[in-house]
Amino acid sequence: MRPLVDPFGRTISYLRVSVTDRCDLRCIYCMSERMRFLPRKDLLSIDELDRLCAAFVARGVRRLRFTGGEPLVRRGFLDLLEAVSRHLGQGLDEITLTTNGVQLADFAQDLARIGVKRVNVSVDSFDRETFARIARRDRLGDVLGGIEAAVAAGLKVKINTVALKHDNAHEIPDLIQWAHARGHDITLIETMPLGEIDEDRTDQFLSLARVREDLASYWRLTDLPDRTGGPARYVRVEETGGRLGFITPLTHNFCEGCSRVRLTCTGRLYLCLGHETAADLRAPLRDDASDVSLQAAIDAAIALRPKGHDFQIERLRTPATERHMSVTGG
Ligand code: 5AD
Ligand code: SF4
Repeated sequence: MRPLVDPFGRTISYLRVSVTDRCDLRCIYCMSERMRFLPRKDLLSIDELDRLCAAFVARGVRRLRFTGGEPLVRRGFLDLLEAVSRHLGQGLDEITLTTNGVQLADFAQDLARIGVKRVNVSVDSFDRETFARIARRDRLGDVLGGIEAAVAAGLKVKINTVALKHDNAHEIPDLIQWAHARGHDITLIETMPLGEIDEDRTDQFLSLARVREDLASYWRLTDLPDRTGGPARYVRVEETGGRLGFITPLTHNFCEGCSRVRLTCTGRLYLCLGHETAADLRAPLRDDASDVSLQAAIDAAIALRPKGHDFQIERLRTPATERHMSVTGG
């Protein structure tokens, strides 16, 4: 089958699949305290998610990342991974997931057994109180236990940290040292204006250009050419020997080489994190068992792919999209 190439010549080789919009945390930059989640009946079944993944693998997707919300709260998630793992080595290079780590201790062994090699774990603070304030849940202990269990199971762990001016800015160097001392890469992320939350994102916005300058005043940062098909730019911190990534949608646009599209748990395919442009794949999926309409719908969707997001610092107050990151999973 033909590969998926968008109108700007970018080949789609990476699919992020959000298996649920639910989460067991309520991070302040992501959700409001009183989120309304989708009714369960609107979710695709595990079999349907599996069929969609297979349809994309058939079109040249080599990497699948499962996200949420929190993927580990989706019932049947391991069955989905198990099913999808049949493509490994048959077109699919890797299966990864992005998790908040809260339940990772219970899942780590199974993930490793199924063939997951790497997980991204979000940790915005390792101070218990700060963590509880940011996540609105006192679960730091579970997250740290989850990371340990993942390492023990042989998974490679990358840490994601959203940089927040008031809550964790002062902790960033410690977080980097902590991660590097344990052999984890760590990536810092600027807050993005996705969905309504309870506070003002402008107020929490911390420019990573500034963070980088600060770090460079006491550490030697060497630019690395490493690109993961994603938006992160990496440096090596010579003092720690570890890799540090920056995801800077606001201060630096990252769309040029973007190879990814995003599927939600209701079967909507989003062509860009920062745009509402999307296509419904659920109807064509349910339409016929042969995948003919589904493949046609995927082609039509890719043809709509916008050039990139247009997040702007001045407009952080108003969300660029109605949907939260928990719908498309980052
Ligand atoms: N802006 C930036 N990062 C966000 N995340 C969730 N919502 C936002 C947002 N609005 C982060 C999570 C996780 C990653 C997938 O995205 O903390 O690390
Ligand atoms: Fe859950 Fe991730 Fe959103 Fe936090 S950022 S509430 S962990 S989906």
